[in-house]
Amino acid sequence: MSKVDIDKIIEKDIGIPKKFERREKDADNRKTYDEVFDRATLLIIYKLITNKVILSVDYPISTGKEGNVFKGTTPEGKAVALKIYRMATATFKNIIRYIDGDPRFKNIKRNHRSIIYTWAKKEFRNLERMHKANLNVPKPLAFMKNILIMEFIGEDDLPAPELRHVEIKQPAKKYNNMIKQIKILYSKAGLVHGDLSEYNLLVRDDKLVIIDVGQAVVYDHPHAKELLIKDINNISHYFKRRYGIQVRPEKSIRETLSLREDE
Ligand SMILES: Nc1ncnc2c1ncn2[C@@H]1O[C@H](COP(=O)(O)OP(=O)(O)O)[C@@H](O)[C@H]1O
Ligand SMILES: [Mg+2]
Repeated sequence: MSKVDIDKIIEKDIGIPKKFERREKDADNRKTYDEVFDRATLLIIYKLITNKVILSVDYPISTGKEGNVFKGTTPEGKAVALKIYRMATATFKNIIRYIDGDPRFKNIKRNHRSIIYTWAKKEFRNLERMHKANLNVPKPLAFMKNILIMEFIGEDDLPAPELRHVEIKQPAKKYNNMIKQIKILYSKAGLVHGDLSEYNLLVRDDKLVIIDVGQAVVYDHPHAKELLIKDINNISHYFKRRYGIQVRPEKSIRETLSLREDE
């Protein structure tokens, strides 16, 4: 497709670029626009719109290292979150580390594009497993190439805040519940999150919602145990530091998870 066609699509069919263009003065927005909406990604958004998966992309929620998250709307008027993995700057070394050793992704091609696509697919599959295990995660809705579409966690049009940005009620209860969720994640969904922290937990309806599960690995992945302990320690340290909660010692958690000392 020619450059002109793409511009037409941008003008006519995709909600967000118009809005972005109006805000062009805002340097940050402009940067986000250029980095996220490369031609290939614009075409995928266009496809998602013509396939009626989404109606529009409304506004950016977050700009991250490897991707950006946007609020979108479906043709039925439902709010969704679109996570768009950036094609240009993704940190491949990091990604490869998690994909290698995961039997689900044994036969992937090793070029730049395929790896990014695999990563979006991996986050989708991980969300599916977690959702099936009744964990509190955004419901996965669809993925296409480097774009993942999931339930929007928020109220009306406002995204839910990250745990680090709010003061929660009953922190001890929430801490214990989180440890339980990690256990269900491990024993029922067969996964270890691998990047669990106050950054990747959202607070909605006074409950914690687990997000950012692209890097989650299967329980028998060579790094699984080490990541599991890291996740638990991150959560324990946060609740201890911020709320003075008496956290469970690592030893007792290891016992609960039936892990040996040397694992
Ligand atoms: N489903 C969602 N609903 C609402 N906001 C979301 C959703 N997923 C992510 N976000 C927001 O976007 C931020 C970045 O998403 P995340 O998946 O953690 O990506 P990364 O940290 O890799 O950039 C989150 O911290 C959260 O504020
Ligand atoms: Mg995150």
